[in-house]
Amino acid sequence: MKISSDFLVIGSGISGLSFAIKAAKYGTVSLLSKDKITEGSTLYAQGGIATVFDEKDSFQEHIQDTLSAGAGLCRPDIVEEIVLAGPKLVQELIDNYNVKFSKEKGIYDLGLEGGHSKRRVLHAADRTGIEIESKMVEAARKEPNITFYEDHVAINLFVDNNICIGAYVLEKNKGNIINFQASVTTLATGGAGKVFLVTSNPDISTGDGIAMAYRAGASIINMEMVQFHPTCLYHPHAKSFLITEAMRGEGAKLIDLNGKQFMKKYHPKKELAPRDIVSRSIDTVLKISGADSVFLDITHKDSDFIKKRFPMIYGKCKSFGLDITEQPIPVIPAAHYSIGGVKANTSGQTSIKNLLAIGEVSCTGFNGANRLASNSLLEGLVVGDKSAKYAASLMMSNNSTKKQPFPYWDPGMAEDPDEMVIVKQNWEEIRRFMWNYVGIVRSNNRLIRAGNRLDMVMKEINQFYWDFKLHPSLLDLRNLAQVAELIIRCAKGRMESRGVHYSLDFPEKAKTLYNTELQISMVDRVPLNNDI
Ligand code: FAD
Ligand code: SIN
Repeated sequence: MKISSDFLVIGSGISGLSFAIKAAKYGTVSLLSKDKITEGSTLYAQGGIATVFDEKDSFQEHIQDTLSAGAGLCRPDIVEEIVLAGPKLVQELIDNYNVKFSKEKGIYDLGLEGGHSKRRVLHAADRTGIEIESKMVEAARKEPNITFYEDHVAINLFVDNNICIGAYVLEKNKGNIINFQASVTTLATGGAGKVFLVTSNPDISTGDGIAMAYRAGASIINMEMVQFHPTCLYHPHAKSFLITEAMRGEGAKLIDLNGKQFMKKYHPKKELAPRDIVSRSIDTVLKISGADSVFLDITHKDSDFIKKRFPMIYGKCKSFGLDITEQPIPVIPAAHYSIGGVKANTSGQTSIKNLLAIGEVSCTGFNGANRLASNSLLEGLVVGDKSAKYAASLMMSNNSTKKQPFPYWDPGMAEDPDEMVIVKQNWEEIRRFMWNYVGIVRSNNRLIRAGNRLDMVMKEINQFYWDFKLHPSLLDLRNLAQVAELIIRCAKGRMESRGVHYSLDFPEKAKTLYNTELQISMVDRVPLNNDI
């Protein structure tokens, strides 16, 4: 079976939707989601979207805050481009898609988060992701040129002579493998937080786009740069539930088991220090005390204010028997955002012709070595918009490669899987050793240990992949293992501590700046402005 369109968009979060809605003006769009259309990190965003929306703020300050968080590794030209493009596109969210951000007395209520020198985060209480995702889906549904394919999992890209002509896709409910042919294929598959045992990310975040692009020969960069969010709810039944940084922006304090506020010992900005510093400080407190969690305390604020500003968090914690207006919230750091990814520019262009990468799956140089809070919705929105225009120009200039057919998937002698326990075992194993050895604090020995274990697990996964019929959880596992390998290889290549990457063996910053870049069989350190 085959399906042809001008644009194949793999992913329906903010970046995929921003791209699809604009690309639909130029041609037909197949929009794929691995699960339900709204499921993805965008839906769970709490804090909001950072942009200059207040006359007391300035582009220069937003640029400077982004660069400072990025610890020397941002591309200043790209930071400037994205920050400057922000207000117009956020206004478009409000005017064209009817996104409703919170207001106080008729004025947008701008939130404050770590690393921002001004209040500049537009939010819809603590349900910003739900508001943006649902309104963008509504807008996309009005576009006759967009066809939605929910529960369709992209397996591999088809690349011939370094030109992408589509992807093999598993139709989850029927087990069919479909050839999706397109003039331009856009990866908008989000991040890879599930590689780690503790994460704020939803289940879809298994790094599929990064793994597919890598297997197809694309350049991948800075995979060691994994951002850990300081505050995820610690509760046996609270899977991946984030407690927004905006709560610290409203004055919540981090305290230890004895009720002592500890951040002043680690950074002058205390709870609003950059994320990497807050996460490492909590990690240190937990290692020294042996406690299971630290606590985030907002009980000093008025209870009506807490319920109005953080209704979702209040309700969720209440469902676990915790009243956050009266009790501190047990929290731990969690893998949150993949800063590294498929090397791309702000038009989404990758090292493979007709393959674009946008949003969290990509690495444009905007986030450097540490992403500033609430900058990723902004990047997804801006790059999605710009890359749609680039994709249209590619399609028009590319008639020779237009919707070229490629061979159907060959299942070989694959049988129905006999022991799914292998998938479960390897899934748990990878996520646990990545958390313990490649987590917030790394060392050469820990990376070597993780690499050795991964070699063994990958052999088993590859054998299983070739011997048995494809199953969504096997595809997730294979991608997860691939991304784990890329993170370990890049972490070994970074011989310094910078931003979110901290190594006990190289505690200082190196004098020269570089990205860790790899393709299928090489890892290199390359200058920052090494363009696509
Ligand atoms: P996603 O929104 O993750 O969407 C990925 C899409 O790809 C999904 O549709 C999925 O189905 C699809 N997909 C994946 N693999 C495949 C496959 N193999 N085949 C088919 N489809 C596939 N950032 C902010 O700026 N502000 C915030 O307040 C904020 N809060 C956050 C809170 C949480 C809990 C989390 C997890 C993240 C938060 N972030 C926030 C980060 C931000 O939400 C993400 O970086 C951003 O939403 C990513 O958007 P995206 O379009 O790249 O991917
Ligand atoms: C949060 O609300 O704390 C998450 C914001 C982000 O990841 O940008």
